[in-house]
Amino acid sequence: MPVLAVNVDHVATLRQARMGIEPEPVAAAYMAEMAGATGITVHLREDRRHIQDRDVELIRKTCNTRVHLEMAATKEMQGIALGIVPEFVCLVPEKRQELTTEGGLNCIGRETELAEYLAPLHEKKIRSSLFIDAEPKQIEAASAAGTEFIEIHTGHYADAKEFTARKKELTKILDGIKLAQDIGLKVNLGHGLNYRNILAFKDVKGIQEYSIGHAIMARAIFSGLDRAVRDMVTLVRTFAD
Ligand code: PXP
Repeated sequence: MPVLAVNVDHVATLRQARMGIEPEPVAAAYMAEMAGATGITVHLREDRRHIQDRDVELIRKTCNTRVHLEMAATKEMQGIALGIVPEFVCLVPEKRQELTTEGGLNCIGRETELAEYLAPLHEKKIRSSLFIDAEPKQIEAASAAGTEFIEIHTGHYADAKEFTARKKELTKILDGIKLAQDIGLKVNLGHGLNYRNILAFKDVKGIQEYSIGHAIMARAIFSGLDRAVRDMVTLVRTFAD
């Protein structure tokens, strides 16, 4: 059965809007776990615009499921990951000006560099994932870099406004999932997924995990976090194995 990792960055974004102490992402992580989340995701950005170092440290200490640390492939972040030792690291591209992660990591031509970057993390038994677009060459390069998982970027599909464009993006993702699984990669999906557009993946076999933040937090404003996470957990549990 695929599982749900809840991204609590958006809780930190709200806190940082006032540079205060609430809402507390550590509490959100705890509630999300109680509501059935199987993992907690935090993206520690270079500019610390939402998640702070203390959030990662506290979530690492209090999380009962699995911590997924999203990060850019920098020396600083590698050092932090080696100190924190999350269950998973997901490498993402990062641009200072972007509102959120805009595209997948470029792995083509960087296979050796990425393999060398991941090696010390793997030595500490941290499992790795590369967040990439559903492009065959990226998928093959990610595999050559020695990652166990990829997370296929679903944002282009989620953002597509009209039917034909959305269908085209979906087909790309479905083909990408198949290719990745055929060459032995484990596949997660994430970015822009919500209670409606996720249904397109209901019958897709072998997805390990859905990584979702914004849609859950948006719903939580009206329904409460417990309910919002439970609704998504219930949905994902009906999906194909
Ligand atoms: N996966 C990755 C790699 C991300 O960067 C993000 C956004 O932080 C997500 C998943 C979750 O995306 P969303 O908040 O749109 O659900």
